Amino acid sequence: MTKNKIENAKKLLRSGELVIFPTETVYGLGGNANDKKAVKRIYNIKKRPANNPIICHFKSLKEIKKDFYLSKLEELLAKKLWPGPITLILRKKTNSKISQLVSNKSPYVGCRIPQDKIALQLLKSLNFPLAAPSANFSERTSVTKFKDLDKNLIKKIFTIKGEQSKLGLESTVIKVKKNTIELLRLGSITPNEILKVAKKSNIKFIRTSKISPGNLKKHYATKKKIRINVIKVNDDEGLINFGKNNLKSKIINLNLSRNGNLKEASRNLFHFLHKLDQSKCKKIAIAPIPSVDLGLTINDRIKRASKK
Ligand code: TXA
Ligand code: MG
Repeated sequence: MTKNKIENAKKLLRSGELVIFPTETVYGLGGNANDKKAVKRIYNIKKRPANNPIICHFKSLKEIKKDFYLSKLEELLAKKLWPGPITLILRKKTNSKISQLVSNKSPYVGCRIPQDKIALQLLKSLNFPLAAPSANFSERTSVTKFKDLDKNLIKKIFTIKGEQSKLGLESTVIKVKKNTIELLRLGSITPNEILKVAKKSNIKFIRTSKISPGNLKKHYATKKKIRINVIKVNDDEGLINFGKNNLKSKIINLNLSRNGNLKEASRNLFHFLHKLDQSKCKKIAIAPIPSVDLGLTINDRIKRASKK
């Protein structure tokens, strides 16, 4: 079944078409990264501004090394954290075939090797990397479950269905500058996990959207209004709870993790946002979530989703 789907996807991608595929973080909307027209299509369909670069997905470090220069620290991070949910911004070689459009003409391109079985299988069947942003319209909520994909998107684009994404939050985006690791987007790998690998480095949080346009304040938006850190749920609100407490909605109650497990909460977050968007409640209330480890990423996402 999946084998056939990968065969189909391969044919489409080779001819410059796009394909939606699962990854361990969120679903991706992929196209041939070497094909200018395919990359243009991604921007158009997503309604994404051209100055917001797209991550390239590769099957192996060997392939990445053909196109990019890696410092010692970058290589260390690559070897320890790939395949996995980390995106390294690397400097492209001048003879690389990767389209300039993926990075708004900058030689610095976001690269990642995903660990999801289907994503890797698909990449291994191709002889080019896949440019792939998250498979949602610009500024909207990312997708971790097949049935949450936008109907207008899957009507137009061939989609490979996977299990619910194992991690549920997008990759962590970093750029290495000598011994400093700049964190451009919080993600599924925490700063502590990065420091465990790169023991002698330090991490610097970058929050400006000039360097990483994906850091725009409004993002991940649901159709319904969101309130975060609630201490009481209003009558017209559905609740996304966390842990054990006395919060209760009169309409719908979901709990990211009753045991207060941040991994479980990360996996559930985007699906719950989609679920409440489809439910009877008028607005969405979200319980406080501790700002540690993955809680930092969860809070980043819900804070931006709650921006008007
Ligand atoms: O987990 C993920 O990263 C998913 C899956 C599909 O791999 N992809 C994803 O892509 O989340 P997207 O396009 O939704 O978010 C990419 C983020 C944006 O914040 C973008 O600004 C940043 O990465 N980014 C990509 N390339 C960059 C570059 N060359 N320089 C700076 N930031 C970059
Ligand atoms: Mg996105």
